[in-house]
Amino acid sequence: MKISILTLFPEMFGALSCSIIGRAVNNGFLQIDIVDIRKYSKDKHFKCDDYPFGGGAGMVMMPQPIYDAVQSVDPNRKCRRIYMSPKGRVFSDSIVKEIASDSRDLLILCGHYEGVDQRVLDLCIDEEISIGDYVLTGGELAAMVVVDAVSRFVPGVLGSEKSNRDESISSGRLEYPQYTRPAEFMGVKVPEILLSGHHENVEKWRNKESERLTSLLRPDLTENEK
Ligand code: ADE
Repeated sequence: MKISILTLFPEMFGALSCSIIGRAVNNGFLQIDIVDIRKYSKDKHFKCDDYPFGGGAGMVMMPQPIYDAVQSVDPNRKCRRIYMSPKGRVFSDSIVKEIASDSRDLLILCGHYEGVDQRVLDLCIDEEISIGDYVLTGGELAAMVVVDAVSRFVPGVLGSEKSNRDESISSGRLEYPQYTRPAEFMGVKVPEILLSGHHENVEKWRNKESERLTSLLRPDLTENEK
């Protein structure tokens, strides 16, 4: 999958060179292109924002640099085009899977300041996505959340496909607690069953713990099943 991210702050995306996403990019399972909107400004100072018509606080991102950046990345409208915004559909596991199973490449527009001129959104964007009911200073961190969560479902990105199925939420349950060495830490022992080598009992214990934690911490996850 190719993901193009349009932003005024390309340097923020250094985080995507790390860890699992960085490895997936290096190994060719994922292509991430960071596109600097400022390069498309026709202003001699590369200005990309201006005062809002009608007055009010803050600045609004101008339509032309964004329009030209989108056109250069996706001239034939082949991408799924997303604008990160607190007004959007609230991101969830089902949206992650919907995007990951879409055969189109992704184009993600990050806004800043007080927002983006509505006309360029109407002209260029397919959908708006919010990562939650709070307002960030820009769409960059939100875009990284979407890239990270979607990439986990791109074949080859995770070492083993199984890692996805067992994960919290994806399975409709919270994940069971995990432990590693040492078997005793600060006087606290790992549950005996995990040291037994009895795979069936380990599986049963993990399922029970998943159910217990889900009904304790997130009973809403299973409400539809009742
Ligand atoms: N930009 C600012 N706040 C946001 C949010 N909550 N989700 C997505 N993009 C945003």
